[in-house]
Amino acid sequence: MRVLKPLSPRERLLRACRGEPVDRPPVWLMRQAGRYLPEYRRVRGDIPFLEFCRSIERAVEVSLQPVDLVGSEAVILFSDIFVPVPSLGVEVDFRPGPVVAQPIRSLAQVEKLRAPDPRESVPFVFEILRRLRRELDSRELPLIGFAGAPFTLAAYLVEGHGSPQFPVLRRMLYAAPDVLRALLARLTDLVVRYLDAQIEAGAQVVQLFDTWAGLLPEAEYRQWVLPVHREIAAKLGSARAPLVLFVGGGPHLVDAMAESGADVLSLDWRVDLASAAQRLGSRVSLQGNLDPCALSAPPDDIARRVRELVAAGRAARGHVLNLGHGVLPDTPVEGVRAFVSAAREAGGET
Ligand code: CP3
Repeated sequence: MRVLKPLSPRERLLRACRGEPVDRPPVWLMRQAGRYLPEYRRVRGDIPFLEFCRSIERAVEVSLQPVDLVGSEAVILFSDIFVPVPSLGVEVDFRPGPVVAQPIRSLAQVEKLRAPDPRESVPFVFEILRRLRRELDSRELPLIGFAGAPFTLAAYLVEGHGSPQFPVLRRMLYAAPDVLRALLARLTDLVVRYLDAQIEAGAQVVQLFDTWAGLLPEAEYRQWVLPVHREIAAKLGSARAPLVLFVGGGPHLVDAMAESGADVLSLDWRVDLASAAQRLGSRVSLQGNLDPCALSAPPDDIARRVRELVAAGRAARGHVLNLGHGVLPDTPVEGVRAFVSAAREAGGET
């Protein structure tokens, strides 16, 4: 069902997440603030990345850039999934992805992890959110908070660095399940506290990034990851802020993801949106899912793909236009603008 009265961007996003009628799908992009924008690179300079994330004024500035520069209709906190991790007592560096000085391989290491209150260990995150809310309220734009999901954080903590297939992590699941179980439990507590504090500081929607959960077969996803997603969704409760769940590379996991309790499933670009919407769309809202590389197509082609996504998403109770993963650094800014402007025009027709 659709409403004809134009909604504010904030209402449009919140309603689409909850499966209430909207005038057209809202639009934003994962990794919308980043190196593809010359203005981001200018503010970023060559400050070490974690220091940049801790710099309140700079983080506020780059969080807001996509609104004015590409027309995005929501702001996501500028930070990284690794920002709360050093406070566990783990040394992390960015080169440019996260690198862990001493990868976690034993129960003794897990037991030594600290359990900080994020309000005290990373207070700048909440100050950035409070300042963003003050900026955005007058423009009726919504503010999105986020966290890395426990499995994806564990992937880097165990492996030590990014990897196409994370073999050390996957081997741990079979060879040392107790260690992985204990690590996921610690990280789940951290993520719940972290997202809870973000909502308290003004985040109106929160997204959980489980970029690497798609490496698992469905049975292992159900055993290891789904209970973690369910626990986070249950403990946060969607009354205060809808929860969006992104799982990377997971076409085989979409049906299981729908059992997580998340309000919105953010679909990898390999998932067929039309069939997911038909199968699951009455139960959850969907987000996505253009291939980020398609932003290099000519603008007309991007606009056609956006119209196709809008049509496919109509079978869902709610649809948030987005990519199927984050914007890549070499993306033409023109392509991002074409995506957003096509989204703003789409849905006008019946
Ligand atoms: O969406 C946004 O605009 C908010 C910002 C954001 C960043 N990272 C900024 C960032 C978000 C939501 C993330 C999430 C993140 N970080 C994930 C999950 C989502 C995904 O994309 O899969 C993961 C796995 C990470 C870990 C990470 N951080 C990697 C692998 C890298 C290096 C590779 C890369 O894409 O740059 C980072 C660094 C990072 N995080 C940058 C940015 C803008 C680049 C740092 C720079 O400016 O040099």
